[in-house]
Amino acid sequence: MNILLTGGAGFIGRWVAKQLLEEGHQLWILDNLSNGREVNIEEFKDHPGLKQFIKGSILDETLLTDLFQENKYEICYHLAASINVQDSIDDPRTTFNNDTIGTFYVLEQCRRYNTKVVFMSTCMVYDRSLDNLGINELHPTKPASPYAGAKVAAENMVLSYYHAYGLPTVVIRPFNTYGPFQKTGGEGGVVAIFLKNQLNGMDLNIYGEGTQTRDLLFVEDCARFVIAAGFSSSVDGEIVNAGLGQDISINDLAFEIVKDKSKIKHVKHIHPQSEIQKLLSDSTKAKQLIDWEPKVSLSEGLRRTKEWIETSGLI
Ligand SMILES: NC(=O)c1ccc[n+]([C@@H]2O[C@H](COP(=O)([O-])OP(=O)(O)OC[C@H]3O[C@@H](n4cnc5c(N)ncnc54)[C@H](O)[C@@H]3O)[C@@H](O)[C@H]2O)c1
Repeated sequence: MNILLTGGAGFIGRWVAKQLLEEGHQLWILDNLSNGREVNIEEFKDHPGLKQFIKGSILDETLLTDLFQENKYEICYHLAASINVQDSIDDPRTTFNNDTIGTFYVLEQCRRYNTKVVFMSTCMVYDRSLDNLGINELHPTKPASPYAGAKVAAENMVLSYYHAYGLPTVVIRPFNTYGPFQKTGGEGGVVAIFLKNQLNGMDLNIYGEGTQTRDLLFVEDCARFVIAAGFSSSVDGEIVNAGLGQDISINDLAFEIVKDKSKIKHVKHIHPQSEIQKLLSDSTKAKQLIDWEPKVSLSEGLRRTKEWIETSGLI
């Protein structure tokens, strides 16, 4: 199939690209490298399935028009987005433009060519979990940050194209994802930052009390989920979660990684108002509709991520 992957030079995108190429598809990657890196897709640069890497923006409608006209995509995996909660608080315009307006531009092209749209939303749109049953797709949303607000707005547009035009679209909400190729600096994810600090003998800084929990999904499990949503019509018009189904407090995660309480420090939270105190997934719907379930445990995922940070030289 002819497939467009936006955000394909990013952390999750490069794993989606890898699997799509391994499955024999013709792939175009569009990424403006605002947070992605060409080195993330270096491994595939001579792969015959990788038709083109385009350094460009989803906000460039002329570019999108040309790409869709020339290549008549059958599926668009739309991962390109501004992803940082704090950045979205400091500069909501950039997040809104990329995550909401950019999604609208992508949708307009997909409408023209009847291209299936897989829209990558996030668990950060949910209100906190109040029990140990986990968050399913009927759980209330709460746009606690402009990042979440922009994603919810885009989700609604994506679903409206299904209802109004019969376009095959799906909204997917993976939980917090970690693994090789995630950035280990301040803009990266908690697992990558903690592992890097531990390897460097540095303290692990926790925002607030550290009782907030996350359901951590290994990136290859996430990529398998993303791809499956593109190839099944059973999820069209739906919202579907994916997570590990277990949550861990940031305090316990830090201890699991550093095994030394004296290395764990608590610092003032930078955005307590946008923190989600408990995130625990229920992925029953993904199991029912696309037979997806996670395969990589947290301990195995942490081991693989640490090994990558130690050996990649990409940190
Ligand atoms: N990392 C997580 O825990 C997580 C969890 C759930 C959902 N998501 C979603 O998954 C997607 C990928 O996230 P990620 O963690 O790989 O982040 P990432 O920043 O590594 O990937 C996003 C990519 O989009 C690109 N991009 C941003 N604006 C663009 C634009 N205007 N035009 C073209 N490209 C643009 C960036 O350069 C980057 O490569 C995002 O939509 C994010 O919201 C992430």
